[in-house]
Amino acid sequence: MWGGRFASGPGAIMEEINASIDFDRHLYRQDIAASKAHADMLAKQGIITADDAKKIAHGLDTILSEIEAGKFSFKRALEDIHMNVESRLSELIGEASGRLHTARSRNDQVATDFRLWMRDTVDALDAALAGFQRALAEKALAHAGTVMPGLTHLQTAQPVTFGHHLMAYVEMMARDRGRFADARRRLNESPLGAAALAGTSFPIDREMSAKALRFDRPMANSLDAVSDRDFALETLSAASIASVHLSRLAEEIVIWTSPLTGLMKLSDKFTTGSSIMPQKRNPDAAELVRAKAGRVIGALNALLIVMKGLPLAYAKDMQEDKEGAMDALGALALSIAAMAGMVADLEPDAARMKKAAGEGYATATDLADWLVRSLNIPFREAHHITGRIVAKAAETGVALHRLPLSAMREIEPRIGEDVFSVLSVDRSVKSRASFGGTAPKNVRAQAKKWLRKLEKEKS
Ligand code: ARG
Repeated sequence: MWGGRFASGPGAIMEEINASIDFDRHLYRQDIAASKAHADMLAKQGIITADDAKKIAHGLDTILSEIEAGKFSFKRALEDIHMNVESRLSELIGEASGRLHTARSRNDQVATDFRLWMRDTVDALDAALAGFQRALAEKALAHAGTVMPGLTHLQTAQPVTFGHHLMAYVEMMARDRGRFADARRRLNESPLGAAALAGTSFPIDREMSAKALRFDRPMANSLDAVSDRDFALETLSAASIASVHLSRLAEEIVIWTSPLTGLMKLSDKFTTGSSIMPQKRNPDAAELVRAKAGRVIGALNALLIVMKGLPLAYAKDMQEDKEGAMDALGALALSIAAMAGMVADLEPDAARMKKAAGEGYATATDLADWLVRSLNIPFREAHHITGRIVAKAAETGVALHRLPLSAMREIEPRIGEDVFSVLSVDRSVKSRASFGGTAPKNVRAQAKKWLRKLEKEKS
C-alpha cells in the first residue's frame, strides 16, 4: 500500500511491532461506514465518479458481510484494519478501489474509526449502567425497611437500611453516566477530511461526511483532528471512576457474604467452591470486579503516558491507544453485568443484619439526641453523658436498650422511661427522615423516583 519508495519489505520484527490488526480489526464496522461516507462525499463533490462510488460502496458491503460471516482473512502483512479492507476492496472491484483514499489518510481515518467505536461503546455502557441502576433501585425498594449496620471506619456507627445503602450506588452510577455523556458530547466531532495533518487540496465537504456518520460537526483544526486522543482519555477517566465505584460495592459484597459477618448470601450463580475445602462459597465474581478496576485505571494511565509530550501531529505511538482501551472498556462492561446480577441475587439475612445493626451501641447517637430533645441539654454535654452510659453498659456487658433505667439515672437522674422508645434500631432508622436520610419512607420514595425516571428514559 505504501511500497513505492521501498526496495524491500519490512523485516519480521518490524512487521510484528508495527501491525495493529490483532486489535484494530474490532473497528471494521466503523472503518467501513466511514469509507462509505467518504466515498459518497467524494462523488457528490465530483472528485470521483458516481459509478466508482457505487462500486466502492458495493465492495465495502461485501467486505462487511465477509467479516461478519467470519470469512474474511485478516493479514498481518497488511498492518491494520484500514489496509486490510482496502486491499480486499481492490481484489473485489479493481481500479475504482484506488480512488477511495483520495483526500484522506490513515491518520484521519483511524481517528474517525476510533471515535465512532468509542461512541458506540459509550452508548452501550450507558445502557448497561441504566440496567444496573434499575437492579439496585428494585432491590432497594424491596429492602427499604431492612435494617443493617451503617459503618464508618468499618466500625458500627448508626443503623441504616439496606435499601438506603443500595440507593447510594444509584447516585454514583448517575454521576458516572453523566461523565460518559459529557465525554460523548465532546467526542462527537468528525476528524474525517483532515487527511494526513494539513487538510487537502481537493474540494471536499467535511460537513457532509460528518453528518452521514452522525457527528455533530467536523473538527475545526486538521492538526488537532489527527493528533487528539482526549476522547479516549476522557472515556477512560469516566470508566476508571465507574470501576472504582464498582470495586467498592464488590468489596462490600465480599464483607457482607463472609462468614465473619454473615449478613448476606450470594446465589450459587455468582459463587464458586473450593477444590479442597468443601464448605467454601467464594465470591469470585465480586473479587474479580474489585480487581478489574486495576485494568481500567491501568489503561487510563498507560494512554496518558503515551500521549504525554507527543509533538503534533500524528505519531505511531498513538496506535497504542486502542488495545488497552478496548480491553478496559470490555472489562468494565463485564463488571457492570456481573454486579447487576449479583445485586439482584443478594439475599440479606434480615434477622442477622438487625442484630448486627444494634451491636456496638449503634443507637448511642439516638440517646444523645433524646437528651437534647427531651431535657434540653446542649449536644456536646449530651454526647458526654451518653458516653458515660455506654461505658456503663459495656462494663456490665449489655446492650444500650437492656441497661436498666436505674443505671442510666445514676448518670443523669432526669432520664425517663420513654428513653427506651429511641433505643431500638427500627426507631432509629425511622427517625432519620431528614432529606437524604435513611428513613424507610425516604428510601421508598427515592427508589420509586429512580424507577420511574429509568422507565421514562427507555421510551
Ligand atoms: N494503525 C494505525 C493506528 O492505529 C493507523 C494510522 C497509521 N498512520 C500512519 N501514518 N502510519 O494508529
